Amino acid sequence: MKGNIIVGQSGGPTAVINSSLAGVVKTAKDRGAKKIYGMLHGIQGFLDGKYVDLSDYIQTELDIEILKRTPSAYLGSCRYKLPEIHENTEIYEKIFESLNKLDIECFIYIGGNDSMDTIRKLSDYAIIKGYSQKFVGVPKTIDNDLAITDHTPGFGSAAKYIGTTTKEVIRDAIGLAYNTDIVTIIEVMGRNAGWLTGATALAKGEDSPGPDLIYLPEVPFDIPTFVSKVKSLLKKQKTVVVAVSEGIKTKEGKYVCEYGAAVDYVDAFGHKQLTGTATFLANTISAEIGCKTRAIELSTLQRSAAHLASRTDINEAFAVGGAAVKAAFEGDNGKMIILKRVSDDPYQCTTDVYDVHKISNVEKLVPREWINKEGTYVTEEFISYIEPLIQAELIPVPVEGIPRHIVLDLTKK
Ligand code: F6P
Repeated sequence: MKGNIIVGQSGGPTAVINSSLAGVVKTAKDRGAKKIYGMLHGIQGFLDGKYVDLSDYIQTELDIEILKRTPSAYLGSCRYKLPEIHENTEIYEKIFESLNKLDIECFIYIGGNDSMDTIRKLSDYAIIKGYSQKFVGVPKTIDNDLAITDHTPGFGSAAKYIGTTTKEVIRDAIGLAYNTDIVTIIEVMGRNAGWLTGATALAKGEDSPGPDLIYLPEVPFDIPTFVSKVKSLLKKQKTVVVAVSEGIKTKEGKYVCEYGAAVDYVDAFGHKQLTGTATFLANTISAEIGCKTRAIELSTLQRSAAHLASRTDINEAFAVGGAAVKAAFEGDNGKMIILKRVSDDPYQCTTDVYDVHKISNVEKLVPREWINKEGTYVTEEFISYIEPLIQAELIPVPVEGIPRHIVLDLTKK
């Protein structure tokens, strides 16, 4: 390695995105990188000249260990869409000028679909202009909607939290259901992909009935059919628990959340903020059936619950970070690291590199055959796919009873 390396984090954070950062830092150090820079708030902050020399901040093995257990983006994240190259070459020249000034040889970006779009554009620009930097993406998203890779780091931990929390909510509902009918609606993230919503089925076991109904965005949602299903369940039981994706849509293509109190926020990639599905459906049930309802939006909790992270996920997040450094050092450009499941029993996964052009801007949805015919539950195959990803724990380091996090203290240097 002759030059330096720079790493950034982008998109919605996860419980293990910092484990990938730890993997990048550790591997870059082990492989003799001279300087390891971190962009603050991804490419957006970098364009504003914001970056740090990470050797001033992540110095010891303990720092690495705490980083692996700290949720959210240590370096700060962004949702920033680079223009197409032909639309604005100035912005690219500005980025490469800064990269050249810092003598950057490898650029590593940890993110989801939209972040891989950044890797694609920067690697294309480097090739067009004959710049020597190598650009490699590290997969990350709780949504698990990246193509080609078996799954994405961040998903396993979110699934573990969602399965656990759903089970606890069901227990609470059963405990209270005596004379009163109660309908609980749990809203799960994932945008147009139902991987996370399907993970609520992990709550089903010998000691728990699991959710009664699970609605994924892959299947059009019909409001009257939903109400009548809940009505008929209430004839047999006092409590009904339903899991819904934030991204469910009616057959007309309208998000169910848009039928409720509208939130108009749209991000740089044109994604609408999806929120309020559970509230709208709970209100609909109250109005139509007249029973007690509760709407639970798991919201940010599902992606920041590091106290319940999956050790498998933390380790894989670390591994893909390290693999990206290795790939970039060995000359890979315009690639993303993927996870390849080589065996189910025992579960084994390895890493590989793949052309980012085939990954960016493609959404991997839950296959229709992993959802039941009625569109109200996931199949055994779906559960078998997720189960290995949620195994084992890596307990946070508690200080006075609360997990210790490592934070970037910019006043330090
Ligand atoms: O992209 C990950 C994700 O968690 C989606 O599931 C969700 O729709 C979105 O982020 C929410 O992002 P924000 O917190 O920025 O509204």
